[in-house]
Amino acid sequence: MVDSEEGIVEREVRQQFTTSNVAAGRLRGAQESVREELMQLALEVNPVNLSAETPDFVAPEFITKALSEAVTGPNILLNQYTRGYGHPRLVNALSKLYSKLLGHELDPFKEILVTVGAYGALHCAIMALINPGDEVIIIEPFFECYVHITKMAGGIPVFVPLLKNKTKDSISSADWVLDPKEVASKFTNKTKMIIINTPHYPLGKVFTCSELDMVAEFCKKHNVICVMDETYEWLVFKSSEHIRMATLPGMWELTITIGSAGKTFNLTGWKEAIGIGLEIEIERKETPDSYLQDRVERLELKRDCMAKCLSSVGMTPVIPEGGYFIVADFSKLGAKISLNLDEEQGAKDYQFAKWLYRNEKLQVFPFSIFYCVEHKHLGEDFVCFCFVKYEKAEQVFSELKKSLNRVDTYCKTAV
Ligand SMILES: Cc1ncc(COP(=O)(O)O)c(C=O)c1O
Repeated sequence: MVDSEEGIVEREVRQQFTTSNVAAGRLRGAQESVREELMQLALEVNPVNLSAETPDFVAPEFITKALSEAVTGPNILLNQYTRGYGHPRLVNALSKLYSKLLGHELDPFKEILVTVGAYGALHCAIMALINPGDEVIIIEPFFECYVHITKMAGGIPVFVPLLKNKTKDSISSADWVLDPKEVASKFTNKTKMIIINTPHYPLGKVFTCSELDMVAEFCKKHNVICVMDETYEWLVFKSSEHIRMATLPGMWELTITIGSAGKTFNLTGWKEAIGIGLEIEIERKETPDSYLQDRVERLELKRDCMAKCLSSVGMTPVIPEGGYFIVADFSKLGAKISLNLDEEQGAKDYQFAKWLYRNEKLQVFPFSIFYCVEHKHLGEDFVCFCFVKYEKAEQVFSELKKSLNRVDTYCKTAV
Protein backbone atom coordinates (compact mmCIF):
# COMPACT_ATOMS: atom_id res chain seq x y z
CA MET A 1 0.00 0.00 0.00
CA VAL A 2 1.31 3.43 -0.88
CA ASP A 3 1.23 5.97 1.94
CA SER A 4 -0.82 9.07 1.28
CA GLU A 5 1.02 12.37 1.59
CA GLU A 6 -1.07 13.27 4.69
CA GLY A 7 -0.31 9.88 6.20
CA ILE A 8 3.42 10.42 5.78
CA VAL A 9 3.26 13.94 7.22
CA GLU A 10 1.18 12.74 10.16
CA ARG A 11 3.61 9.89 10.89
CA GLU A 12 6.59 12.21 10.69
CA VAL A 13 5.00 14.69 13.05
CA ARG A 14 4.15 11.90 15.48
CA GLN A 15 7.71 10.59 15.32
CA GLN A 16 9.12 14.05 15.95
CA PHE A 17 6.95 14.44 19.03
CA THR A 18 8.12 11.15 20.45
CA THR A 19 11.81 12.08 20.14
CA SER A 20 13.47 14.32 22.66
CA ASN A 21 14.45 16.78 19.91
CA VAL A 22 11.05 18.36 20.07
CA ALA A 23 11.39 19.23 23.77
CA ALA A 24 12.57 22.73 24.62
CA GLY A 25 16.34 22.93 24.95
CA ARG A 26 16.15 23.62 28.68
CA LEU A 27 14.60 20.15 29.19
CA ARG A 28 17.30 18.23 27.36
CA GLY A 29 19.17 15.79 29.50
CA ALA A 30 16.13 15.29 31.75
CA GLN A 31 16.36 11.77 33.12
CA GLU A 32 14.19 9.15 31.48
CA SER A 33 11.36 8.22 33.75
CA VAL A 34 12.06 4.90 35.42
CA ARG A 35 8.51 5.19 36.83
CA GLU A 36 7.07 5.01 33.31
CA GLU A 37 9.00 1.86 32.50
CA LEU A 38 8.03 0.22 35.77
CA MET A 39 4.39 1.17 35.23
CA GLN A 40 4.54 -0.58 31.89
CA LEU A 41 6.07 -3.64 33.54
CA ALA A 42 3.29 -3.53 36.17
CA LEU A 43 0.69 -3.66 33.39
CA GLU A 44 2.40 -6.78 32.09
CA VAL A 45 2.91 -8.72 35.33
CA ASN A 46 0.06 -7.33 37.48
CA PRO A 47 1.99 -7.24 40.78
CA VAL A 48 0.68 -6.42 44.27
CA ASN A 49 1.15 -2.68 44.25
CA LEU A 50 3.13 -1.70 47.32
CA SER A 51 4.55 1.45 45.85
CA ALA A 52 1.64 3.71 44.94
CA GLU A 53 -0.11 5.88 47.48
CA THR A 54 -3.60 4.80 46.52
CA PRO A 55 -5.38 3.52 49.63
CA ASP A 56 -8.06 0.93 49.02
CA PHE A 57 -10.19 1.95 51.96
CA VAL A 58 -13.25 4.10 51.42
CA ALA A 59 -12.94 7.87 51.42
CA PRO A 60 -14.08 9.61 54.64
CA GLU A 61 -17.86 9.83 54.58
CA PHE A 62 -18.05 13.40 55.89
CA ILE A 63 -16.19 14.51 52.77
CA THR A 64 -18.01 12.40 50.19
CA LYS A 65 -21.29 13.56 51.72
CA ALA A 66 -20.19 17.19 51.52
CA LEU A 67 -19.27 16.78 47.86
CA SER A 68 -22.51 15.07 46.97
CA GLU A 69 -24.49 17.78 48.77
CA ALA A 70 -22.50 20.48 47.01
CA VAL A 71 -23.05 19.08 43.52
CA THR A 72 -26.68 18.01 43.90
CA GLY A 73 -27.86 20.67 46.36
CA PRO A 74 -30.05 23.71 45.69
CA ASN A 75 -27.16 26.10 45.03
CA ILE A 76 -26.69 25.29 41.36
CA LEU A 77 -23.91 27.86 41.07
CA LEU A 78 -21.63 25.50 42.99
CA ASN A 79 -21.25 23.57 39.74
CA GLN A 80 -20.11 26.62 37.82
CA TYR A 81 -16.96 28.69 37.59
CA THR A 82 -15.56 29.83 40.88
CA ARG A 83 -12.96 32.38 41.88
CA GLY A 84 -9.78 31.39 40.01
CA TYR A 85 -7.46 31.67 43.03
CA GLY A 86 -9.68 29.50 45.22
CA HIS A 87 -13.35 29.20 46.11
CA PRO A 88 -14.18 31.74 48.87
CA ARG A 89 -15.47 29.09 51.28
CA LEU A 90 -12.29 27.06 50.79
CA VAL A 91 -9.83 29.96 51.19
CA ASN A 92 -11.71 31.13 54.27
CA ALA A 93 -11.46 27.66 55.81
CA LEU A 94 -7.76 27.50 54.93
CA SER A 95 -7.16 30.95 56.39
CA LYS A 96 -8.90 29.97 59.64
CA LEU A 97 -6.81 26.81 59.99
CA TYR A 98 -3.40 28.08 58.84
CA SER A 99 -3.52 31.49 60.57
CA LYS A 100 -3.30 29.56 63.82
CA LEU A 101 -0.71 27.07 62.61
CA LEU A 102 1.55 29.72 61.09
CA GLY A 103 1.04 32.32 63.80
CA HIS A 104 0.18 34.92 61.17
CA GLU A 105 -3.26 36.29 60.33
CA LEU A 106 -3.65 35.13 56.71
CA ASP A 107 -5.61 37.23 54.27
CA PRO A 108 -7.69 34.55 52.50
CA PHE A 109 -7.88 36.64 49.33
CA LYS A 110 -4.27 37.78 49.09
CA GLU A 111 -2.11 35.21 50.78
CA ILE A 112 -3.68 31.89 49.78
CA LEU A 113 -3.71 30.28 46.37
CA VAL A 114 -5.68 27.11 45.63
CA THR A 115 -4.11 25.00 42.90
CA VAL A 116 -4.79 21.63 41.38
CA GLY A 117 -2.86 19.62 43.94
CA ALA A 118 0.43 20.37 45.67
CA TYR A 119 1.97 19.57 42.31
CA GLY A 120 0.19 22.56 40.79
CA ALA A 121 1.38 24.75 43.67
CA LEU A 122 4.99 23.66 43.15
CA HIS A 123 4.62 24.45 39.48
CA CYS A 124 3.20 27.92 40.17
CA ALA A 125 5.81 28.76 42.82
CA ILE A 126 8.80 27.71 40.75
CA MET A 127 7.58 29.12 37.44
CA ALA A 128 6.63 32.40 39.08
CA LEU A 129 9.94 32.97 40.83
CA ILE A 130 12.73 31.34 38.85
CA ASN A 131 14.48 33.16 36.03
CA PRO A 132 16.77 31.41 33.55
CA GLY A 133 20.11 30.78 35.24
CA ASP A 134 18.78 30.96 38.81
CA GLU A 135 19.92 28.12 41.03
CA VAL A 136 17.44 26.03 43.02
CA ILE A 137 18.77 23.90 45.88
CA ILE A 138 17.04 20.53 45.97
CA ILE A 139 17.54 18.03 48.78
CA GLU A 140 18.09 14.40 47.79
CA PRO A 141 16.21 12.09 47.77
CA PHE A 142 13.77 14.38 45.94
CA PHE A 143 10.25 14.29 44.52
CA GLU A 144 11.16 14.22 40.84
CA CYS A 145 8.96 17.09 39.72
CA TYR A 146 11.15 19.61 41.62
CA VAL A 147 13.85 18.99 39.05
CA HIS A 148 11.56 18.94 36.03
CA ILE A 149 9.76 22.16 36.93
CA THR A 150 13.02 23.92 37.81
CA LYS A 151 14.36 23.01 34.38
CA MET A 152 11.14 24.09 32.71
CA ALA A 153 11.60 27.50 34.30
CA GLY A 154 15.18 27.62 32.97
CA GLY A 155 16.60 27.24 36.48
CA ILE A 156 19.56 25.11 37.50
CA PRO A 157 18.97 22.36 40.09
CA VAL A 158 21.75 22.15 42.68
CA PHE A 159 21.64 18.96 44.74
CA VAL A 160 22.35 18.39 48.42
CA PRO A 161 21.98 14.79 49.58
CA LEU A 162 20.71 13.85 53.03
CA LEU A 163 23.43 11.69 54.53
CA LYS A 164 22.81 8.54 56.54
CA ASN A 165 24.76 8.90 59.76
CA LYS A 166 24.31 5.47 61.29
CA THR A 167 24.95 1.97 60.09
CA LYS A 168 23.26 -0.09 62.80
CA ASP A 169 20.40 -2.36 61.82
CA SER A 170 17.26 -0.57 62.92
CA ILE A 171 17.67 2.92 61.61
CA SER A 172 15.19 5.74 61.59
CA SER A 173 14.50 8.41 59.03
CA ALA A 174 15.86 10.81 61.67
CA ASP A 175 19.31 9.32 60.95
CA TRP A 176 19.30 10.93 57.51
CA VAL A 177 20.64 14.40 58.05
CA LEU A 178 21.69 17.54 56.28
CA ASP A 179 25.39 18.31 56.45
CA PRO A 180 25.60 22.04 57.30
CA LYS A 181 28.91 22.37 55.42
CA GLU A 182 27.42 20.81 52.30
CA VAL A 183 24.38 23.09 52.54
CA ALA A 184 26.56 26.17 53.08
CA SER A 185 28.67 25.30 50.04
CA LYS A 186 25.61 25.33 47.75
CA PHE A 187 24.35 28.81 48.57
CA THR A 188 25.85 31.20 46.01
CA ASN A 189 24.89 34.58 44.64
CA LYS A 190 22.87 32.70 41.99
CA THR A 191 20.74 30.81 44.51
CA LYS A 192 17.12 31.93 44.31
CA MET A 193 15.27 29.11 46.02
CA ILE A 194 15.59 26.05 48.22
CA ILE A 195 12.93 23.33 48.32
CA ILE A 196 12.43 21.43 51.58
CA ASN A 197 10.00 18.55 51.87
CA THR A 198 8.92 17.69 55.42
CA PRO A 199 7.64 15.12 56.30
CA HIS A 200 9.81 13.81 53.56
CA TYR A 201 8.78 11.64 50.64
CA PRO A 202 9.81 8.86 50.48
CA LEU A 203 12.07 8.68 53.59
CA GLY A 204 9.44 9.88 56.07
CA LYS A 205 12.05 12.14 57.69
CA VAL A 206 10.61 15.00 59.71
CA PHE A 207 13.11 17.85 59.63
CA THR A 208 14.12 19.02 63.08
CA CYS A 209 13.94 22.56 64.33
CA SER A 210 17.73 22.87 64.30
CA GLU A 211 17.94 21.68 60.68
CA LEU A 212 15.26 24.13 59.62
CA ASP A 213 16.94 26.88 61.65
CA MET A 214 20.19 26.18 59.85
CA VAL A 215 18.48 26.42 56.43
CA ALA A 216 16.62 29.54 57.57
CA GLU A 217 19.87 31.28 58.49
CA PHE A 218 21.25 30.66 54.98
CA CYS A 219 17.99 31.81 53.37
CA LYS A 220 18.07 35.05 55.31
CA LYS A 221 21.75 35.64 54.66
CA HIS A 222 21.39 35.12 50.89
CA ASN A 223 17.80 36.35 50.53
CA VAL A 224 16.66 32.98 49.21
CA ILE A 225 13.03 31.83 48.96
CA CYS A 226 12.20 28.64 50.81
CA VAL A 227 9.50 26.50 49.23
CA MET A 228 8.20 24.15 51.90
CA ASP A 229 6.49 21.09 50.48
CA GLU A 230 4.43 20.04 53.51
CA THR A 231 2.21 17.63 51.62
CA TYR A 232 2.38 15.08 54.47
CA GLU A 233 1.96 17.65 57.27
CA TRP A 234 -0.88 15.66 58.89
CA LEU A 235 1.00 12.42 58.94
CA VAL A 236 3.61 12.84 61.63
CA PHE A 237 4.03 10.02 64.11
CA LYS A 238 4.12 10.43 67.90
CA SER A 239 7.88 10.66 68.33
CA SER A 240 8.22 13.71 66.07
CA GLU A 241 6.92 17.22 65.64
CA HIS A 242 6.17 18.97 62.39
CA ILE A 243 7.88 22.37 62.39
CA ARG A 244 6.68 24.95 59.91
CA MET A 245 9.48 26.98 58.37
CA ALA A 246 7.19 30.02 58.02
CA THR A 247 6.97 30.25 61.82
CA LEU A 248 10.74 30.61 62.35
CA PRO A 249 12.04 34.11 63.06
CA GLY A 250 12.37 36.19 59.89
CA MET A 251 11.09 33.40 57.62
CA TRP A 252 7.48 34.45 57.04
CA GLU A 253 8.46 36.75 54.17
CA LEU A 254 10.77 34.17 52.60
CA THR A 255 8.57 31.06 52.79
CA ILE A 256 5.94 29.57 50.52
CA THR A 257 4.09 26.78 52.36
CA ILE A 258 2.46 24.08 50.25
CA GLY A 259 -0.05 21.51 51.49
CA SER A 260 -2.14 18.86 49.80
CA ALA A 261 -5.85 18.42 50.45
CA GLY A 262 -5.76 15.19 48.45
CA LYS A 263 -3.14 13.68 50.75
CA THR A 264 -4.75 15.10 53.88
CA PHE A 265 -8.06 13.38 53.21
CA ASN A 266 -6.81 10.34 51.28
CA LEU A 267 -8.58 11.69 48.21
CA THR A 268 -5.75 12.19 45.79
CA GLY A 269 -8.15 12.01 42.88
CA TRP A 270 -10.23 14.93 44.03
CA LYS A 271 -7.64 17.64 44.29
CA GLU A 272 -9.42 20.78 45.37
CA ALA A 273 -13.08 20.04 46.17
CA ILE A 274 -12.46 19.75 49.86
CA GLY A 275 -13.20 23.01 51.70
CA ILE A 276 -16.28 21.84 53.55
CA GLY A 277 -14.57 18.76 54.94
CA LEU A 278 -11.78 21.00 56.15
CA GLU A 279 -14.26 23.09 58.14
CA ILE A 280 -15.65 19.98 59.84
CA GLU A 281 -12.17 18.79 60.72
CA ILE A 282 -11.15 22.15 62.19
CA GLU A 283 -14.11 21.94 64.57
CA ARG A 284 -13.15 18.54 65.95
CA LYS A 285 -9.36 18.84 65.89
CA GLU A 286 -7.76 17.24 68.94
CA THR A 287 -11.02 15.54 69.94
CA PRO A 288 -11.54 11.74 69.84
CA ASP A 289 -13.61 12.23 66.66
CA SER A 290 -10.73 13.77 64.75
CA TYR A 291 -10.28 11.94 61.50
CA LEU A 292 -6.70 13.17 61.08
CA GLN A 293 -5.67 12.01 64.55
CA ASP A 294 -7.30 8.64 64.07
CA ARG A 295 -5.52 8.21 60.76
CA VAL A 296 -2.09 8.86 62.29
CA GLU A 297 -2.74 6.20 64.92
CA ARG A 298 -3.93 3.63 62.38
CA LEU A 299 -1.03 4.30 60.06
CA GLU A 300 1.55 4.11 62.82
CA LEU A 301 0.40 0.52 63.43
CA LYS A 302 0.71 -0.23 59.74
CA ARG A 303 4.16 1.31 59.67
CA ASP A 304 5.29 -0.91 62.53
CA CYS A 305 3.78 -4.02 60.91
CA MET A 306 5.51 -3.28 57.65
CA ALA A 307 8.84 -2.59 59.37
CA LYS A 308 8.60 -5.90 61.24
CA CYS A 309 7.78 -7.70 58.08
CA LEU A 310 10.71 -6.19 56.20
CA SER A 311 13.11 -6.97 59.05
CA SER A 312 11.86 -10.54 59.23
CA VAL A 313 13.05 -11.21 55.71
CA GLY A 314 16.43 -9.60 56.10
CA MET A 315 15.84 -6.06 54.91
CA THR A 316 16.67 -3.10 57.13
CA PRO A 317 13.76 -0.66 57.28
CA VAL A 318 14.35 3.04 57.78
CA ILE A 319 11.60 3.77 60.31
CA PRO A 320 9.74 6.84 59.02
CA GLU A 321 8.70 9.58 61.43
CA GLY A 322 5.95 10.70 59.09
CA GLY A 323 4.28 10.10 55.74
CA TYR A 324 3.22 6.70 54.50
CA PHE A 325 6.29 5.40 52.80
CA ILE A 326 8.99 3.20 54.20
CA VAL A 327 12.41 2.81 52.68
CA ALA A 328 14.32 -0.42 53.25
CA ASP A 329 17.92 -1.39 52.76
CA PHE A 330 17.96 -4.67 50.84
CA SER A 331 21.74 -4.93 50.47
CA LYS A 332 22.02 -8.04 52.64
CA LEU A 333 19.31 -9.71 50.61
CA GLY A 334 20.40 -8.29 47.31
CA ALA A 335 23.81 -9.86 47.64
CA LYS A 336 22.20 -13.30 47.74
CA ILE A 337 19.65 -13.10 44.97
CA SER A 338 20.33 -13.67 41.36
CA LEU A 339 20.34 -10.16 39.97
CA ASN A 340 21.85 -9.94 36.61
CA LEU A 341 24.06 -7.09 37.76
CA ASP A 342 25.17 -5.24 34.75
CA GLU A 343 25.63 -1.49 34.49
CA GLU A 344 23.67 -1.48 31.26
CA GLN A 345 20.65 -2.75 33.19
CA GLY A 346 20.57 0.26 35.51
CA ALA A 347 21.13 0.81 39.22
CA LYS A 348 21.06 -2.12 41.69
CA ASP A 349 17.82 -1.01 43.35
CA TYR A 350 16.15 -0.72 39.99
CA GLN A 351 17.18 -4.26 39.10
CA PHE A 352 16.01 -5.49 42.51
CA ALA A 353 12.65 -3.74 42.03
CA LYS A 354 12.26 -5.40 38.63
CA TRP A 355 13.22 -8.73 40.19
CA LEU A 356 10.47 -8.29 42.80
CA TYR A 357 7.93 -7.39 40.11
CA ARG A 358 8.78 -10.39 38.00
CA ASN A 359 9.47 -13.07 40.60
CA GLU A 360 7.27 -12.06 43.49
CA LYS A 361 4.66 -9.92 41.78
CA LEU A 362 5.42 -7.11 44.21
CA GLN A 363 5.40 -3.53 43.03
CA VAL A 364 7.89 -1.27 44.81
CA PHE A 365 9.90 1.80 43.87
CA PRO A 366 13.66 1.84 43.44
CA PHE A 367 15.11 4.55 45.68
CA SER A 368 17.80 5.86 43.36
CA ILE A 369 15.13 7.53 41.20
CA PHE A 370 15.09 10.19 43.90
CA TYR A 371 18.70 11.21 43.15
CA CYS A 372 20.48 13.02 40.34
CA VAL A 373 22.73 10.97 38.04
CA GLU A 374 25.93 11.75 39.98
CA HIS A 375 24.42 10.78 43.35
CA LYS A 376 22.44 7.68 42.32
CA HIS A 377 24.88 5.38 44.13
CA LEU A 378 23.64 6.86 47.44
CA GLY A 379 20.21 5.33 46.90
CA GLU A 380 21.18 2.06 45.26
CA ASP A 381 20.81 -0.18 48.33
CA PHE A 382 17.21 0.78 49.02
CA VAL A 383 13.69 0.20 47.75
CA CYS A 384 10.61 2.06 48.78
CA PHE A 385 7.23 0.72 49.97
CA CYS A 386 3.97 2.47 50.66
CA PHE A 387 2.15 1.23 53.75
CA VAL A 388 -1.08 3.19 53.38
CA LYS A 389 -2.56 0.99 50.80
CA TYR A 390 -4.64 -1.56 52.67
CA GLU A 391 -7.34 -1.17 55.26
CA LYS A 392 -7.02 -4.84 56.21
CA ALA A 393 -3.40 -4.44 57.12
CA GLU A 394 -2.87 -7.84 58.74
CA GLN A 395 -4.08 -9.62 55.64
CA VAL A 396 -1.85 -7.80 53.24
CA PHE A 397 1.12 -7.91 55.55
CA SER A 398 0.78 -11.63 55.93
CA GLU A 399 0.65 -11.91 52.14
CA LEU A 400 3.66 -9.65 51.88
CA LYS A 401 5.43 -11.68 54.49
CA LYS A 402 4.73 -14.90 52.62
CA SER A 403 5.93 -13.25 49.48
CA LEU A 404 9.07 -11.88 51.05
CA ASN A 405 9.64 -15.20 52.79
CA ARG A 406 9.66 -16.79 49.40
CA VAL A 407 12.43 -14.33 48.52
CA ASP A 408 14.23 -15.47 51.67
CA THR A 409 13.77 -19.13 50.85
CA TYR A 410 14.92 -18.45 47.37
CA CYS A 411 18.00 -16.68 48.73
CA LYS A 412 18.80 -19.58 51.01
CA THR A 413 18.60 -22.03 48.14
CA ALA A 414 20.57 -19.72 45.90
CA VAL A 415 23.61 -19.36 48.21
C1 LIG B 1 6.42 15.22 48.30
C2 LIG B 1 5.21 15.40 47.44
N1 LIG B 1 4.90 16.65 47.05
C3 LIG B 1 3.82 16.88 46.27
C4 LIG B 1 3.01 15.84 45.83
C5 LIG B 1 1.82 16.14 44.95
O1 LIG B 1 0.66 16.17 45.74
P1 LIG B 1 -0.78 16.39 45.08
O2 LIG B 1 -1.39 15.06 44.88
O3 LIG B 1 -1.55 17.21 46.07
O4 LIG B 1 -0.57 17.12 43.79
C6 LIG B 1 3.31 14.53 46.18
C7 LIG B 1 2.52 13.41 45.67
O5 LIG B 1 2.88 12.26 45.72
C8 LIG B 1 4.44 14.31 47.04
O6 LIG B 1 4.76 13.07 47.43
